[in-house]
Amino acid sequence: MTAIQIKEGVYWIGVNDRTTDLFEGLWPITQEGVSYNSYFIDDEKTAIIDLTKSFKGDEYFDQINELTDLSQIDYVVVNHMEPDHSGLLRTLRRIAPHVTLVGSEKTRQMLEDFFSIKENIKVVKEGDTLNLGKRTLKFFSTPFVHWPETIMTYETSHRILFSCDAFGSYGAIGGAIFDDECKNFEFYKKEALRYYSNIVASFSAPVLKAIEKLQDVPVEVIAPSHGLIWRKDPGQIVSLYKKWAEYASGETEPGISLIYGSMYGNTELALNAVAQGISQRGVPVQIFDAARTHVSYILPSIWTQKGVMVGAPTYEVSLFPPVAGVMHMAALKHIRYKKGAYFGSYGWSGGALRNLKKIVEPLKWEWLETLEFVGSPTKEDLHQAEKLGEKLAEAVQKES
Ligand SMILES: Cc1cc2nc3c(=O)[nH]c(=O)nc-3n(C[C@H](O)[C@H](O)[C@H](O)COP(=O)(O)O)c2cc1C
Ligand SMILES: [Fe+2]
Ligand SMILES: [Fe+2]
Repeated sequence: MTAIQIKEGVYWIGVNDRTTDLFEGLWPITQEGVSYNSYFIDDEKTAIIDLTKSFKGDEYFDQINELTDLSQIDYVVVNHMEPDHSGLLRTLRRIAPHVTLVGSEKTRQMLEDFFSIKENIKVVKEGDTLNLGKRTLKFFSTPFVHWPETIMTYETSHRILFSCDAFGSYGAIGGAIFDDECKNFEFYKKEALRYYSNIVASFSAPVLKAIEKLQDVPVEVIAPSHGLIWRKDPGQIVSLYKKWAEYASGETEPGISLIYGSMYGNTELALNAVAQGISQRGVPVQIFDAARTHVSYILPSIWTQKGVMVGAPTYEVSLFPPVAGVMHMAALKHIRYKKGAYFGSYGWSGGALRNLKKIVEPLKWEWLETLEFVGSPTKEDLHQAEKLGEKLAEAVQKES
């Protein structure tokens, strides 16, 4: 793409990624893509804020060269060291050897650890400023949004907050980069939640801390490192992130995330009865076949819904592996304060339920009744399955 002016002298110079299948080598973006947003400030001194992944270097550097002499760039602000933003740093230093890198003390250490860079580093602390001529940059320390070194950069004249991963989303830029130009808002909202639940969720407390710290800073534009730039209504993405971060302490939505797997259809027969029971109580249910749905798409549901219904057979005295994988991820992401229930078929020993409880034990979910049955569910089993659905639905309703 070519550079896009955000305000006078401030440009988006990012790169769209539509060919990487897995973000962080883990999260599918084959269909959705992602953007690595980078920004250029043209002043007496020039500055780039965050770079991109080590990818499409020619496209990226050509954009900058159209605006300025790349070899004479004065500063690169390293808000975050993750390689989706720092991947081209070493290449840039070869082109512009005198460039000064700006970041936190932790960034200085990471520059050495990751890239063996020890020189031309300017360490900034909370509230420090950097004058570029007409414009001034101010830095806010926002550790663990997303890594410990992370800072946010604020341009004081146009009141632009370069927030890095915070307020970002998956989804390549489809021509329109500003919120007011975007006609596909629901897509970005959905992808922002998927991004949040996949990448940011574990850091919800630091997100709330950062939002609180910035609440008195007048912000006209939020320019994150992934996804849309928010200039019409920056408060919208801040409210969404705040809401999602608060979900970490249990204030979630009154619905149920139903995650199941089934080898030969026995558990699946009960699934239909369970879903019926939930629906009869008027509670929304989102159903995922864990073997066929990447956990990236299931996490938004677990994160936002109060109830988690798990349906899985026993497999080698354990929980059916695709469902176990989802539960391990929920544990890794510290998804707490859920109301859980379980149903599933077994053949002789059982073991799925025991294994499930062990996986999510650290999360201290409140477990309602569980339903285990041998082989194919009987009429009575199906009746119990329906009741199980009703019970979790009622428990979820009671909370809201
Ligand atoms: C590969 C495999 C491993 C299994 N391991 C166990 C086991 O260790 N203990 C047990 O009680 N049942 C075991 N079973 C039996 C299943 O739990 C049982 O057939 C159940 O009805 C399958 O439910 P489904 O039709 O929903 O897949 C296993 C079945 C398969 C196919
Ligand atoms: Fe990151
Ligand atoms: Fe990122």
